[in-house]
Amino acid sequence: MIQSILQEKKRLVESRLQELLQTKEPAHRTLYDAMNYSLLAGGKRIRPALFLMGLDLFRVPSAPYIDAACAIECVHTYSLIHDDLPQMDNDDYRRGKLTNHKVYGAGMATMAGDGLLTYAFELLTGLPAAAPEIRCRLIMLLAKAAGPEGMVGGQAQDIEAEGRLLTPAELRTLDRCKTGCLLCAPLDMAAAIAEAGDIEAAELHEYGIHLGQLFQITDDLLDAGGTLEEMGKNPGQDAVMHKATYVSLAGADGARRLAEEEANLAREALAPLGDEAKPFRELAAWLLHRTK
Ligand code: IPE
Ligand code: IPE
Ligand code: MG
Ligand code: MG
Ligand code: MG
Repeated sequence: MIQSILQEKKRLVESRLQELLQTKEPAHRTLYDAMNYSLLAGGKRIRPALFLMGLDLFRVPSAPYIDAACAIECVHTYSLIHDDLPQMDNDDYRRGKLTNHKVYGAGMATMAGDGLLTYAFELLTGLPAAAPEIRCRLIMLLAKAAGPEGMVGGQAQDIEAEGRLLTPAELRTLDRCKTGCLLCAPLDMAAAIAEAGDIEAAELHEYGIHLGQLFQITDDLLDAGGTLEEMGKNPGQDAVMHKATYVSLAGADGARRLAEEEANLAREALAPLGDEAKPFRELAAWLLHRTK
């Protein structure tokens, strides 16, 4: 069930992504090629799927908001391009292809990331279906989640944590910022569009926080035990870079137990939302056992 929902959302998002980044200016050709190289390389599209599932939950038709789903994926793809740079995680493979900087060089990869980040906000300002106050709120939610108190803050902590043994609380904060914030934002954005009640929006946000921890713990487990063929990125890199991960903190068995706890907490956060939230519960179960 959740797999077919994810497939359907991925199809919707990818067909729109293919139309978006075009230029008539020959001087910008390489930049657009570099942006599209990573954006159209596949990926699970979990963040835009969460946004579209959120709209479904609140019974808001999603077609008029597809560009907001694409904006979320643009920000995520930018984060991956920059994360892979030689000065960051120095990775060679992403989404089953050479990393952006391996093909276009570190300078152009940096620009491709910058281009995707800023373009995301251009997309949100032009969202025809949303009233100006709602557009403004969507921009604020995505900017906060991506910025210094969110993903960028977490990525900065991640650099400073290399080679250090963090406390569980420090690692939790790091992962909440670097991964959790960009998983909560799509849910918060869907709630903003639906003008959902504070209680429902808070329950969904709480789910997103636990989903973020679950997502990063399973990412750490896959780095320690997954394959390039399935994940589309090289395993074993966290150990090479002396990253602070759940596997380095708690061992693979300990990390697996923590992932199970977070999956349960995610599901429990949704209990008050009843049957309508079933796809979100299934997503938590699916992520717990993911192989990519
Ligand atoms: C990878 O994200 C980066 C993390 C936050 C761990 P995904 O695992 O969602 O990557 P794609 O989008 O499927 O390639
Ligand atoms: C990075 O976490 C999360 C981002 C904000 C991009 P990782 O560095 O563990 O992500 P992967 O394993 O390279 O996808
Ligand atoms: Mg990283
Ligand atoms: Mg990385
Ligand atoms: Mg990782």
